[in-house]
Order: sequence, then C-alpha cells, then structure tokens
Amino acid sequence: MIRNITIIGSGVMGTGIAQSFALNGYRVTLNDISQEYLAKADIRIQADMETMIDEESISLLQKEQALQNIKYEIDIEKALELSDFIIEAIPEVLEMKWKLYSKIEKLISKDTIIASNTSTFPISRLAENASFANRMVITHFFNPAHLVPLVEIVKHEKTEESILAKTIELMRSIGKKPVVVKKEISGFIANRLQTALMREAFYLLNEGVASAEDIDTAVTAGPGFRWAFTGPIEIADFGGLDTWQRVFDNVAPELDKAVSAPNIIKALVAQNKLGAKSGEGIFHYGEETVSNKLNDRDRSYIQLNQIKKKDR
Ligand SMILES: NC(=O)c1ccc[n+]([C@@H]2O[C@H](COP(=O)([O-])OP(=O)(O)OC[C@H]3O[C@@H](n4cnc5c(N)ncnc54)[C@H](O)[C@@H]3O)[C@@H](O)[C@H]2O)c1
Repeated sequence: MIRNITIIGSGVMGTGIAQSFALNGYRVTLNDISQEYLAKADIRIQADMETMIDEESISLLQKEQALQNIKYEIDIEKALELSDFIIEAIPEVLEMKWKLYSKIEKLISKDTIIASNTSTFPISRLAENASFANRMVITHFFNPAHLVPLVEIVKHEKTEESILAKTIELMRSIGKKPVVVKKEISGFIANRLQTALMREAFYLLNEGVASAEDIDTAVTAGPGFRWAFTGPIEIADFGGLDTWQRVFDNVAPELDKAVSAPNIIKALVAQNKLGAKSGEGIFHYGEETVSNKLNDRDRSYIQLNQIKKKDR
C-alpha cells in the first residue's frame, strides 16, 4: 500500500504536488539541495493553503493536518528511507535527472515506484541507464499542480502493468484525473493540443486579425469555456460530424503550419522581454499586477474545481 511519498525538487511543481498528496492524508517528504529552497517551499505551501481556506475549499483543520503530513528533508538518504512512491521534479536537464537516478537507485527498496514530472523527455531516454525501468513512469502534473486536475501518465515498455495500475489509482486517490499516454510522443497529449492552438493564436496576432486581448477572450469566453466540461472530440460529435467535416475542409488549409516558435515570440525573447517574469511580454506587467493576477487565477481555479467535482 502506498503511504509515503517522496518528492525530489521543491520548486514550482514539487510544492504543488506535495500539497495534493498531503491534503489527502499521505505522508510527504520534500527534498531539495538547500535549506533555503525548502524554507521557501514551506512558505509557498502555507500561502497556497491560505488561499484555499479563503475560498472555502479546505478548512483550517485540513490545512493544519496537511502541514503535519509534510516533512522537509535535505538529506536524500533520509528522504527516501520509507518511500513507497518517488516523484522527481528537478529541472528539465537530462544529465541532472540521470545523475539523480543513479544516486537514488542505491537507496530505494525494490518495490518503490519512481515517477518523473518531466514535460519533454521520452521515458525511454530518462530510463536509459536506470536499473528501475520496470518500476518507472512519467506523472506529468500541470501548473499549479495543487489545483489542475490533469496528470498525464506515460509508461516505459518495461513498466509492469501493475505499476501503471497502482499509479493511476494513486492519482485518483488525490482527486486527480489521470490519462494514459499509450505511445511515446513529444509533448504528450495536452501540450500538443495547447501548442497547436497557440501557434494559431500567434498567427492571428501577427496577421493583425485581432488584438491580443480579443484573441485571449475568444478562447476564454468561447471554446475554453466549453472545454472545461466538453472535450474537442465530444464537441465534434455534438456539433455533427458532417458539419465538422466541412469546417475542417474549409478552414484546415488556411491554418498556420509553422514548424518553429512564432516570430513575435522570437523577437521579444531576443529583447529579454520574457513576459510576466521580466515585466513585459505581449502585455506589460507591474510587480503587483503579476501577483494579483496569479492570485485571481488561483481563486478562479479553486472555484472551477468545486464545480468540476460535481462533473459526471
Ligand atoms: N513549471 C511548469 O509549469 C512545469 C509543468 C509541468 C512539468 N514541469 C516539469 O517539472 C520539473 C520541475 O520543474 P519546476 O518548474 O518545478 O522547476 P523549478 O526550477 O521550479 O524547481 C526545481 C527544484 O529542483 C531542485 N533541485 C535541483 N537539483 C536537485 C537535486 N539533485 N536534488 C533535489 N532537488 C534538486 C532545485 O533546487 C529547485 O528547487 C521539470 O522536469 C519540468 O519540466 C514543469
């Protein structure tokens, strides 16, 4: 039975993943390379839980119990001592991940399941030198990981079916919506769909078809509004496949087919205009605007989660 979860890497994703488990009664050990990062993670987790309390998604008691479930441990050996399930959430640098795997494989029991939160690496590449490929999976959470329900699960060709089944069950037990990626493919499912849409969004912006604000509104108030409950395949069925056949035949030839990042993005990156983190991207941001926007975003996601819990 899976009770003890070790999360390696307490950054953006590690802190969100830790909360999801701790709020559902699992004992979580969060590991990082410095006490300073672990202290920051503690502050972030407490602040996220405060927002959840404000939105009446959890009680003060649930917060206190969850915090008691989280241990911050800098010593990797101690962090892995009781571990049933490990989630690696360190930076997206293959050599760093390999180095970590070769260290941990000597420290874990033969039953421990090892998951990576990688967003880009194929599992065959990740497990290339690992002795634990039969017990390895990718569990790809989405930011903010304590609020977005989706977890994409990818198995290695050597991953045992029982390991996959346990991983799916574990994700469901913390209220997540796991989906299985059956073939090795770059971008998995959700980032492929998202990139396809964003390529077209930047094409429309570049062509001057609409303002950036209006393009965003065309998604959030239109298809995006529906997508929280009805996926594109069901939408095709509901709209009528004959109708969608005509939509594809008429519109698909006109869609952007670029195979690299949009020019607008390339030009802004070259000027170090990286978006919210540098104060300017497509839009301008003051420091307070960013934190207010993130806070508003999190509150909206918490409310959406409450509605989605009733989703059949
Ligand atoms: N940020 C996102 O939106 C997002 C979404 C999905 C998946 N991911 C993936 O999740 C993983 C983590 O991304 P992130 O955004 O949380 O990164 P991050 O930079 O915010 O956090 C990574 C943390 O790992 C720590 N770390 C580095 N080496 C370590 C080691 N050997 N042992 C223990 N800790 C170590 C760092 O100190 C840092 O605190 C990456 O693989 C990334 O591709 C990120």
